[in-house]
Amino acid sequence: MTKPLIKTLTVVGVGLIGGSFALALKAAGVVERVIGVDRNADNLALALQLGVIDEAAASLADGVCSAQVVFVAVPVGSVAPVVAQAAPSLPPGCVVTDAGSVKEELVQVCEPLIPSGCHFVGGHPIAGTEHSGAAAAFAELYRGKRSILTPTEVTDADALELVRQLWQAAGSRVECMEATTHDRVFAAVSHLPHMVAYALVHAVAGSAEAEENILAFSAGGFRDFTRIASSDPVMWRDIALMNRGALLALLDRYLLEFSTLRSHVADSDGPWLEAFFHTSKRLRDGII
Ligand SMILES: NC(=O)c1ccc[n+]([C@@H]2O[C@H](COP(=O)([O-])OP(=O)(O)OC[C@H]3O[C@@H](n4cnc5c(N)ncnc54)[C@H](O)[C@@H]3O)[C@@H](O)[C@H]2O)c1
Repeated sequence: MTKPLIKTLTVVGVGLIGGSFALALKAAGVVERVIGVDRNADNLALALQLGVIDEAAASLADGVCSAQVVFVAVPVGSVAPVVAQAAPSLPPGCVVTDAGSVKEELVQVCEPLIPSGCHFVGGHPIAGTEHSGAAAAFAELYRGKRSILTPTEVTDADALELVRQLWQAAGSRVECMEATTHDRVFAAVSHLPHMVAYALVHAVAGSAEAEENILAFSAGGFRDFTRIASSDPVMWRDIALMNRGALLALLDRYLLEFSTLRSHVADSDGPWLEAFFHTSKRLRDGII
């Protein structure tokens, strides 16, 4: 039996990411008790019923006041308000960490909110699905996946080590990265693809004649490509706004590639198209 790393974990936002973290740590035997906080009362009750959490807190202050670690897994625009509201109730030594998909602004705003004697460690698990809420959570979500931590020069070494051990216990490989690098990398490999998927659904749906349900004819390619457009709209609104600098640079780059592609289609330039698709295929095949 693994020795618990901590007695009490409080998860704020018991959705896919927060709920899966709770389940993974419980399954690994590294936490004794998980308290859940969620502004959606139905979701919190479901989390309790499903055994994702052991206790549902009546308020954020109640939820965090006995926690050794607080895991904030709400949409990125709500992380700092949650941390600010929780701060006066954090017990001495408490470590607050998050799961937000954007890091630079979030870490900059959260670090100064933490009271002296408590610690903040920015984090982002590179795992997920297009589903939301406690019902979507599962213990194996993080197994074999990366988790990124974004410590700064003021991050407490013991707090960082504890968060690292928790993610490792959840089954993931932990890497540390500068927050700015993180935001540039994930603008490219995650945030841009989500924007493209959302826009593609609009483009195809908007191309239909008035009474035609064009999406009913969608087959494998369209469905595979647009799976991520089923992701939570609030979560992606917040990510697009918070990482807009890095995302705009990538959107501009994408528009350039796309308009070049368009002009070669307009010119019926078969050799160019074939070479372009060959390069894309080689790069894509290289990922697998
Ligand atoms: N889904 C993914 O693929 C993925 C992957 C990595 C990181 N993330 C990040 O994890 C975080 C959570 O994402 P998720 O997919 O678990 O979302 P989710 O919608 O499944 O869960 C979020 C939960 O937070 C609750 N919530 C929202 N605002 C709150 C507030 N102010 N106080 C208390 N509860 C609140 C919601 O009711 C919901 O239950 C986001 O910051 C997201 O960027 C998501």
